[in-house]
Amino acid sequence: MKNIVILISGRGSNMEAIIRARDAQAWPARIAAVISNTEKAAGLATAEKAGIFTQAVVKKPGEDRQLYDARLAEAIDRHKPDLLVLAGFMRILTAEFVRHYEGRIVNIHPALLPAFTGLHTHARAIEAGVRLHGATVHFVTPELDAGPIIAQAAVPVMPDDTEDELAARVLEQEHRLYPRAVRWLVEGKVRLEAGRVVLDDSINFPAGYMLIGDFS
Ligand code: GRF
Repeated sequence: MKNIVILISGRGSNMEAIIRARDAQAWPARIAAVISNTEKAAGLATAEKAGIFTQAVVKKPGEDRQLYDARLAEAIDRHKPDLLVLAGFMRILTAEFVRHYEGRIVNIHPALLPAFTGLHTHARAIEAGVRLHGATVHFVTPELDAGPIIAQAAVPVMPDDTEDELAARVLEQEHRLYPRAVRWLVEGKVRLEAGRVVLDDSINFPAGYMLIGDFS
């Protein structure tokens, strides 16, 4: 049985999708803890309701990133994580923290990386006039939104899309993509070898617009 720890900062809808998929598909894994950097994260209540241990590790005034990340890692490591899942965790992590979890820390980014790293991805996609946008699940490396890509889902950008409409279209796919990728990781079907993503042969290229693969 593998231990998953999920980090959130907000509503936690991706976290919820992962909890549901784990329960429905009986993964050989437990969600050992959901940890947030703020007590205000709505997702903490959702996780509690699902009977999952929750904790907020809040930055103290004047505390630097190294010290905060060390406290965060301590809180995480109590749960002996095999996999650390960032699901809307809105803090930039120190290189030391990321290295500590190398090969077992993943993130979902709401854009087709390497396009649109950083914030406000949906508005920037509309502004740039791209026809395809989407989401990316990737291993986390010290450089922001630049880790090896595990899976991507693409959606069309419609001519009159508002930022909210496009965000909702992407989010719907995030909720399909992230649980699928996390399940592969739990089952050992995805590995990081020498900085490259290796997918098991049993993962077939799926039909449709959800494009899964290692495009790194
Ligand atoms: C998602 O769009 C995710 O891609 C990004 O932050 C958002 C988190 O949403 N990293 P939620 O908290 O999972 O609902």
